[in-house]
Amino acid sequence: MQTYIVLLGPPGVGKGTQAEIIAKSTGLPHISSGDLFRENIKNATNLGKLAQSFMNKGELVPDDVTIGMIRDRLSRPDCRAGALLDGFPRTTVQAEALEKLLAEFGGTVNYVPYIAASEATLVERLSGRWTCKSQGHIFHEKYNPPKTPGVCDLDGSDLYQRDDDKAETVTRRIQVYFAQTAPLIAYYRERGLLSEIDGAQPIEQVSLELLAVLGK
Ligand code: AP5
Ligand code: MG
Repeated sequence: MQTYIVLLGPPGVGKGTQAEIIAKSTGLPHISSGDLFRENIKNATNLGKLAQSFMNKGELVPDDVTIGMIRDRLSRPDCRAGALLDGFPRTTVQAEALEKLLAEFGGTVNYVPYIAASEATLVERLSGRWTCKSQGHIFHEKYNPPKTPGVCDLDGSDLYQRDDDKAETVTRRIQVYFAQTAPLIAYYRERGLLSEIDGAQPIEQVSLELLAVLGK
């Protein structure tokens, strides 16, 4: 029996931070559509070039391209027991495609924790975020500072600030979230899968509540 978890929530609410923690305690692979796009950008692939043109503006990458990328990733052997999806699906079209895709693997979406926080909290978190260049480990200059500024505690790589964390792009990402992704809250609530978690709490408390939702 596979377990597929969809982590839902606005930009900067802590999806990636929590996914790293949950992936460790569940053993499920953490699949972040944003990280996959950033990996493609780093490797200068055609997909990366296309994705970058949308990401820099705070817009969503087209559904067909995104669904194809996730299909490839979920088809790999490490996802046989399930996966922890972070940032996908982000539109109703993607959510419907995910249902069909998981049905092909004999699975379904089992849990949708929805992490929520105010817009002011999101902006503060994104403006203080530092991300590791090699594996995307996530820090915050105030809430989760690295031991040495600018250096990843976990693998010693340099930390950088994401291009799309500039103030004007953050504003657009939040608008896009409300217009295109927030409808998934009702979509998954109607299916009895949604559990809302207060993302304004400290990282450790959010993790405890998430693990409780997952029955861990
Ligand atoms: P993506 O990389 O997914 O970005 P996002 O959804 O905007 O979310 P973020 O990664 O910015 O935030 P997060 O929720 O992961 O928060 P984090 O844990 O880092 O997508 C980027 C772009 O790619 C999109 O704009 C789009 O263009 C494209 N894309 C991706 N998926 C797509 C899709 N499916 N379809 C189409 N296009 C797609 O935390 C943020 C900060 O807060 C960190 O500094 C962290 O340390 C801190 N923090 C976390 N939790 C707490 C806490 N509880 N208390 C205090 N600080 C905290
Ligand atoms: Mg993230």
